[in-house]
Amino acid sequence: MSEKEKINKDKLPKHVAIIMDGNGRWAKQKGAERIFGHENGVKSVRETVEAAAEIGVEYLTLYAFSTENWNRPKEEVDALMELLVHTISAETPTLNKNNIRLQAIGDLKSLPGNCHSELQEAIEKTKNNSRTTLILALSYSSRWEITNAVKQIAEKVENKTLKASEITEETINQHLCTSDFPEPELMIRTSGEYRISNFLLWQLAYAELYFTEKLWPDFNKEEFYKAIISFQNRERRFGKISEQLYS
Ligand code: FPP
Repeated sequence: MSEKEKINKDKLPKHVAIIMDGNGRWAKQKGAERIFGHENGVKSVRETVEAAAEIGVEYLTLYAFSTENWNRPKEEVDALMELLVHTISAETPTLNKNNIRLQAIGDLKSLPGNCHSELQEAIEKTKNNSRTTLILALSYSSRWEITNAVKQIAEKVENKTLKASEITEETINQHLCTSDFPEPELMIRTSGEYRISNFLLWQLAYAELYFTEKLWPDFNKEEFYKAIISFQNRERRFGKISEQLYS
């Protein structure tokens, strides 16, 4: 039985978030430049998006570039931006063909002009698609996002459109970049690193975490399905005890 056949379609996570890690190490193992790893990472992006759409995962968030990644050598940052622009424009027809909507979260204004405009164009062109929503986290970090949310809420309190006593978890949710999406139920990180690295800290509160030793360019459909099966074999208690879930 293939991994895909083992999946229970009635127990799918609605939203899966992925930290794609290990491109640099993958390239180094092959004696190549780091960018070679990123280029091969695009193949895994394609496979993962296809896999998610095929089984019916509704939202897929990929951590493509963190706020901290701006500190990498300029050569690598430039090459990554170039790769993003190229990939987004080359893949838009495929996204449309497969009914996939593209969205992005992060400090998008900090992206180079051509990257920002290419992204907005792809978002616009795919906005009516409804099978799966692919969310790219670009120039994103959770602390940046939460700080922004706090600022917006504080401004509303300052100009008296909101009372401090009325602030609830929902108020916070509405001011995050992810306000239009459900919380991820499964977070996958590749490359054997066991960290969340400033990714969706608020939203992952109840997510199941899945770590694999595979480096991102070696991640494929089978690996994605394995993560889904692992998710389905877990008992999600949300603070309750096991007996309460089945009574
Ligand atoms: C992490 O590996 C990967 C990244 C920071 C970039 C991910 C980008 C892509 C896969 C390419 C384009 C993506 C899209 C969505 C079109 P790393 O460089 O941190 O690897 P290392 O930990 O081995 O150094």
